[in-house]
Amino acid sequence: MENLEANNVISDIRRRLDIVDVISGYIPLVQKGKNFFGVCPFHDDTNPSMSVSREKQIYRCFSCGASGNVITFVQDYEHISFKEALTELAEKAGVLLPNISYHKKNDAYEKFYEIYEIANKYYLNNIQTNLGKKAKEYLHNRQIDDTMIKEFGIGLSLETQGDLVQLLEKKGYNLNELNEIGLANSNRDLYNNRIMFPLKDLSGRVVGFSGRRYDGKKENKYVNTKVTPIFQKGSILYNYYDAREFVRRKDQVVVMEGFMAAIRSISIGVKNVVSLMGTAMTKEQMDLLKRLSLNVVLCLDGDEPGQHAILTHGEELENRGFHVKVVELSDGLDPDDYILKYGSESFQSLIENAINYRDYRIKSLKKNINLNSNEEVSEYINQVLLEASKLSDEIRQELILKTLAKEFDIGYNTLEKRLSTYIEKNRPKHQMDGKKVLEKKMKKQTKYELAEHYLLYLMLVNGTVRNYFEQGKFNFSTEQERFLASEIVYYYKLYGSLVPADFYTYLQDKKELLQLLDDILMLEVGEISNQMIDEYIRVVKENSVNLEIKRLEKMIREKNDPLEKARIAEEIRKLKMGSE
Ligand code: CTP
Ligand code: MN
Repeated sequence: MENLEANNVISDIRRRLDIVDVISGYIPLVQKGKNFFGVCPFHDDTNPSMSVSREKQIYRCFSCGASGNVITFVQDYEHISFKEALTELAEKAGVLLPNISYHKKNDAYEKFYEIYEIANKYYLNNIQTNLGKKAKEYLHNRQIDDTMIKEFGIGLSLETQGDLVQLLEKKGYNLNELNEIGLANSNRDLYNNRIMFPLKDLSGRVVGFSGRRYDGKKENKYVNTKVTPIFQKGSILYNYYDAREFVRRKDQVVVMEGFMAAIRSISIGVKNVVSLMGTAMTKEQMDLLKRLSLNVVLCLDGDEPGQHAILTHGEELENRGFHVKVVELSDGLDPDDYILKYGSESFQSLIENAINYRDYRIKSLKKNINLNSNEEVSEYINQVLLEASKLSDEIRQELILKTLAKEFDIGYNTLEKRLSTYIEKNRPKHQMDGKKVLEKKMKKQTKYELAEHYLLYLMLVNGTVRNYFEQGKFNFSTEQERFLASEIVYYYKLYGSLVPADFYTYLQDKKELLQLLDDILMLEVGEISNQMIDEYIRVVKENSVNLEIKRLEKMIREKNDPLEKARIAEEIRKLKMGSE
């Protein structure tokens, strides 16, 4: 990637894509002034700490410091290599990627992905053959038609037990590998006579399967791929990859608990759906949700475990800054059953009329209390007030107070007082948002450091300042700054122009310089005048003179020879005069 051609292609791709458009395809962004802000997907956060600049075509998180251009964003977000990100973006930009050789960074698992691709094709083919008749019949009976079978890539493993292993061995993969990635058990196929649902990772590659038995027996209904280097049940969400676009359009993601539910829901047009595999939701999956949208609709099964999971996940999600709504399915139904029983319109309206999580929680508090016990009633009222204290909407709080006062004939003021103490308890001590942290950090810089950074900024955009640097009119006090300055000069000689976002890619292997570049690009520089340039140079020179004087003074202290001391003192005097 050292060569000019490669860099030109890369900057061509980057230039055709607006970073704001690309990033908002992944996380919701809101414009504030010149920049756009969103919740950073690279650390655990609920505040919109990530700023995206259309002007500079870069992003930066005030809180965790993640930063870069459109390519690094896709790379880090999708956990893919530079080349993969570039390929994806090239497609988006409509640029033909020539065969340039890049350092392949992330190919350790390439083989595993290949194996899964082959296995997936094999299963897909099986279900279309004569051997797939029964499986298809089963699916048709469950109202999964051929179009849906194709759309969701549903396949079939065969009864013969060793076919897939043999096929893969013929292609050069060994048994150890096939065992390691969960397709073989010793020398046999792991999946036998099951309907195969492919599980995709965040980039849409098949990395696992869930196999459902269709012989009517209940034991081991599903067999899922075990934990492998490329698959972990708690690190993916079913349909994540395919839901992204639909979630973005609605700015809302519906969470279900099984893939039959998701498949049914998608087939009736509710497509902003992802599924857990069971009722558990990991922190990692919540982070994945955050990448999609902060508006979550929990639509888990209507049975006890599902409803219980809504309470715990809802709380956790709310604590993480999500706005959670809840769909309550009656009679223990799951979304699949519900849709088949009551029809798609009824289901769609359930989703549209999902209730706020807090209201759902309050409602559920009431389910088990004994209204004849004063103790239980008072405990209930306290619980409701505690829930109400977590609401940010005062009108809703007031409504809750009114209802309680009326229902239990308790003074409104008494309730209000109790509510205020709960609200007070909830209040965070002092929260510093990302911007304040940054400002604090910036303030620690001395005026000299700041002036040097400004000069580096000016070197990025102004030829005169670059010339001054080359002519030795000023210099920087740290090695990194000098290094960055010479890279800027070199880059201009090579390409004739510099766009910060491309310069990022050029520096991608020099992490310490990237950090510095980040700090510099953060500066707000207005119109550039000669006077401004001169002033920064004056300050920077003043600093180098001061540093030199300090160095000499230290030398004096260390020397014994009086003559030598006098010579240095003279040097210091001259420096001091020159700088006055
Ligand atoms: N699950 C599992 N192993 C099981 C049962 C369930 O891994 N033995 C996971 C599956 O991912 C499944 C989800 O939990 O999709 C929900 O389980 P369940 O509601 O029992 O399955 P359904 O999705 O309703 O599937 P079906 O309608 O085919 O029974
Ligand atoms: Mn079901």
